[in-house]
Amino acid sequence: MREIERVGFAGLGAMGAGIARRLHDAGHHVACWNRTRAKAEPLIEAGMGWAGTPRELASSVDVLFTMLTNTSAIEATAYGPDGVLAGLREGAVWADISTIAPDTSVALAERVRATGAHFLDCPVSGSPATLAVGQMSVMVGGDRAAFEHIEEVLHAIGPKVTYIGRNGQAILTKVAINLALVVAVTAFAEGVALVEKAGVDREAVVDAVLKSVIASPVIGYRAPLLVDDTDVFADVELQQKDLVLAQELARRLGMAVPTCAATSEMLNAARSSATADRDFVVSVHEAYRRMGGMD
Ligand SMILES: NC(=O)c1ccc[n+]([C@@H]2O[C@H](COP(=O)([O-])OP(=O)(O)OC[C@H]3O[C@@H](n4cnc5c(N)ncnc54)[C@H](OP(=O)(O)O)[C@@H]3O)[C@@H](O)[C@H]2O)c1
Repeated sequence: MREIERVGFAGLGAMGAGIARRLHDAGHHVACWNRTRAKAEPLIEAGMGWAGTPRELASSVDVLFTMLTNTSAIEATAYGPDGVLAGLREGAVWADISTIAPDTSVALAERVRATGAHFLDCPVSGSPATLAVGQMSVMVGGDRAAFEHIEEVLHAIGPKVTYIGRNGQAILTKVAINLALVVAVTAFAEGVALVEKAGVDREAVVDAVLKSVIASPVIGYRAPLLVDDTDVFADVELQQKDLVLAQELARRLGMAVPTCAATSEMLNAARSSATADRDFVVSVHEAYRRMGGMD
């Protein structure tokens, strides 16, 4: 494996820009690429390098991170004459920290192996709020030696780094986590809307929830958005992707995921909320209110 001198980062969205900055602040020499260059400008000003294409980025680094929306974004960045696969160096490690389809991730790992490089699925759990307080967790699937080689770099993303197993197993684990996350947040919004209709003040319910045993980290940063809609951690489009990944997996395995399916239906309703571009807790809560005749 290559000595780690340069780190590459592709995908400077809500999560990627913050993670790339953490890697830079931890002292790594980071070069970046993003489809929309404007989002890279603050990072270039902070001292990061810039590569014109994913291929150029991959050909100049020892460890490459990708943090892109979904499966099709990863495929668009991986393949083709300017794609990552055309540039990866022998012995390099590509850690994909996006949440994508497990099958695609495993297929990509095979393609990367054929180039003499290593591929790890390294999905992260948390949000921009979690990242800001340095509490992201990282799960890792793939060759253990490749994981151990980049483990210290992963610790710059967050303190909780867990090796899960072979390629694909970390992304499968992330699908399980996000299934539970979206169901829990949707159930929270359902409960709030229900008792609002019965006459309880929304702010009082939210405050009580935050002091209760169901105040998990994700409820902790999302519940306040029902009182003060100041932030978008993930909109309904991005969040429903993860339920669809779970439903596709369940269909392939012949498994029933009824709470996932019912929640995905609620997210369908949230997609037509006036607040569909806000955080999904806000749009799903609005959908419940609409169905309850409150708005
Ligand atoms: N938001 C969260 O709380 C959170 C937490 C954990 C994990 N995740 C996962 O992290 C990933 C990124 O999430 P995010 O919140 O950072 O999303 P985001 O803000 O929407 O950023 C998406 C990134 O993907 C790029 N992209 C999209 N389609 C592309 C394509 N076809 N080709 C090349 N680049 C493309 C975007 O480039 P442009 O700038 O050019 O649009 C942008 O850099 C997702 O898989 C998400 O599920 C998110």
